[in-house]
Amino acid sequence: MKGIILAGGTGSRLAPLTNVVCKQLLPVFDKPLVYYPLSVLMLAGIRDILIITTSRDKAAFASLFKDGSQLGLNIQYEVQESPKGIPEAFIIGEKFIAGSPVCLILGDNIFYGEGLPLYLQNIATLKEGACLFGYYVKDPSRYGVAELDSAGKVKSIEEKPQKPKSHYAVTGLYFYDNQVVSLAKTLKPSKRGELEISDLNCLYLEKAQLRLEVMGRGIAWLDTGTHESLHDASKFVEVIESRQGLKIACVEEIAFLLNYISRDAFIELIEEYPQSQYRSYLESILMREFA
Ligand code: TTP
Repeated sequence: MKGIILAGGTGSRLAPLTNVVCKQLLPVFDKPLVYYPLSVLMLAGIRDILIITTSRDKAAFASLFKDGSQLGLNIQYEVQESPKGIPEAFIIGEKFIAGSPVCLILGDNIFYGEGLPLYLQNIATLKEGACLFGYYVKDPSRYGVAELDSAGKVKSIEEKPQKPKSHYAVTGLYFYDNQVVSLAKTLKPSKRGELEISDLNCLYLEKAQLRLEVMGRGIAWLDTGTHESLHDASKFVEVIESRQGLKIACVEEIAFLLNYISRDAFIELIEEYPQSQYRSYLESILMREFA
């Protein structure tokens, strides 16, 4: 399974924060936003990762993550010239995907909760069809909305409906089999001029190859598209981290604990950090190992 982080877009709702820096590099409490989706892919066991971003921001991402080997990953970069829609990720990423199943995560989505790693590792074994995640929200009309039958099967998916048929928003985390590139290429832009991820999902639905997993209350799904939601996400991370003394989405810790990197490589990563709270946290992981 390969992974794509889609981190383009305009971030217009966050202006002026996004006038010179893209949304996915803005801070969410103590780390850049993109660490959160990257950690989701890592926890799912996905180590071949493509980051798709704008031509303006590509160099910043590449300077942050390089080729990913310091985290035991293979990270590549591509550019989306303009936000022509989420499924364009599969067309841009065709060479990278190279006929394998692929997981796409939006670069501004945060997932956190008990049991998430094992849950995702299971789904990452997907070889056929598509798997989406539904999340019960108060106001689903801003999202793709899934209508479910009494057995929990998807009946319909509508993008940003005025009258949503359910409260289940489709999150920004998607797993697809190797048909995804050819299916994405058949899509036509919608009225708003974008290729729509809901249209792609409907193609899988028509083939009876679409599965939706409901993410329960134990998992937090946060998006960060507005000033309020970005601030709320920071507060959420701060509250959990200061209560537990454990970090959310600390990619160095994940790489070490999942054995993506050796102890020596982890120590090298720590040494690259200046004295800071983040460095002290990484050092405390080594101490914990001896406790
Ligand atoms: P959006 O929130 O729809 O768009 P945006 O991030 O550009 O923000 P705004 O609406 O304020 O202008 O996008 C959700 C995520 O998907 C975000 O991480 C950007 C990414 N995205 C792309 O990278 N390319 C695209 O073509 C689209 C539609 C979204």
